[in-house]
Amino acid sequence: MTTLGVNIDHIATLRQARGGHDPDPLQAAVLAELAGADGITAHLREDRRHIQDRDIYLLKQIVTTRLNMEMAPTSEMINIAVDVLPFMVTLVPEQRQEITTEGGLAVREKERDLAKAVETFRDHKILVSLFINPDINDVKASKRVGATHVELHTGYYANAAGATSIAEELGKLKDAALVATKLGLNLNAGHGLNYHNVPAVARIDGMQELNIGHAIVARASLVGMEAAVRDMTALM
Ligand code: PXP
Repeated sequence: MTTLGVNIDHIATLRQARGGHDPDPLQAAVLAELAGADGITAHLREDRRHIQDRDIYLLKQIVTTRLNMEMAPTSEMINIAVDVLPFMVTLVPEQRQEITTEGGLAVREKERDLAKAVETFRDHKILVSLFINPDINDVKASKRVGATHVELHTGYYANAAGATSIAEELGKLKDAALVATKLGLNLNAGHGLNYHNVPAVARIDGMQELNIGHAIVARASLVGMEAAVRDMTALM
């Protein structure tokens, strides 16, 4: 069975838009868990554009499933992660100007640094996932640096238009997944998954967990609209 990690970054994005307390990603995490999420994912970005340090520390206290901390492999973030001790870290590349994470980690170019980071996490008993493009060579490099998990970047699949390119991108995910499972890597995937494109990815052999954020938060904002308006009119 494929499990679900709910990414709550976008709840924090909405909070940061007003600079206040609402909506609180911690409350979103609790509700997601109550609804059956198998894990909570949050990305502490270098520029702190959504999730804040306070969120990560408090999430560690309240998440009763598994906390997956997404982060760039910088020394600042590594220090925070070994202090917070999440269940798992997912290492992602980070560019300040990007709207969201744009590509997978350049694992082969950074093998030595990544191996060092992985060792630090292993010393602290934190599992390590590498967010990579669905590329067989990146899967093999992830194994070489000692990662326990890979998260295949599904953004190319999600953005593909037309049956042929969708099938092509799905094929790349399946090929990368096969190599990952053969190498004994735990297999996750995420980015751009929604209510239409998720079934095919969830059915890939060996797929363990999908990390999904935007589509869930977007739907939550709409399916909750009626109740929110009703609650307001009742007070007026
Ligand atoms: N996985 C990783 C590594 C990500 O960076 C993101 C986006 O924050 C996600 C999954 C979730 O992507 P989406 O918000 O498009 O569902």
